[in-house]
Amino acid sequence: MDDTPNRLPTALPALRSRAREAGFTMSSEDRTGSLLAALAATRPGGRVLELGTGVGEGAAWLLSGMDRASRLTTVELDPAVQAIAREQLGADPRVTFVCGDGGSWLEDFDGAPFDLVFADTWPGKFTHLDRSLDLVAPGGTYLIDDLVPQPGWPESHEASVDGLLAGLDGREDFRCVRLAWASGLLMAVRTA
Ligand SMILES: C[S@@+](CC[C@H](N)C(=O)[O-])C[C@H]1O[C@@H](n2cnc3c(N)ncnc32)[C@H](O)[C@@H]1O
Repeated sequence: MDDTPNRLPTALPALRSRAREAGFTMSSEDRTGSLLAALAATRPGGRVLELGTGVGEGAAWLLSGMDRASRLTTVELDPAVQAIAREQLGADPRVTFVCGDGGSWLEDFDGAPFDLVFADTWPGKFTHLDRSLDLVAPGGTYLIDDLVPQPGWPESHEASVDGLLAGLDGREDFRCVRLAWASGLLMAVRTA
């Protein structure tokens, strides 16, 4: 089976070209993007949160799966990379960009929970994990990627990932599935 996605968001070529110009190499790969779009599509009128916008490739995938009533909030520390996402996706009324530290945002946020949380940076994944899981609505999904060891990982990172996975698997209020696919993903669905 060829698992290369064949239905790409329309904004993707422009985002990729701007990412190349900016030297940004941390965007999600297409298979992960296609899963993001499919998960977003399971939630008509859904509330979606992305932690770590980057240049907006993940956001483009999420928006491509969301219906017109769904809403995406995406948080990024680096204004220069998020400017690319704003430039390419900012005309879409479904997306709200937040520029700032994801950890501070998680601590301060007091709105309604989310149906889908894509935690794609340190806060919400390696820090503030409980807080980001608290923001997942019943039946909602928490997704993380970049879990398969890479040659460039710092020495301690693999142990951090193992600890993260074990902690998530140990949560009684989530059902977890590990996907040894793309960059390595874990999907956790809130059961209570
Ligand atoms: C893996 S990239 C995000 C890729 C994007 N989600 C996608 O799917 O294409 C991680 C991003 O997190 C950002 N970041 C790093 N520390 C952060 C923090 N404390 N708060 C928010 N964003 C942060 C980085 O600047 C980087 O753009």
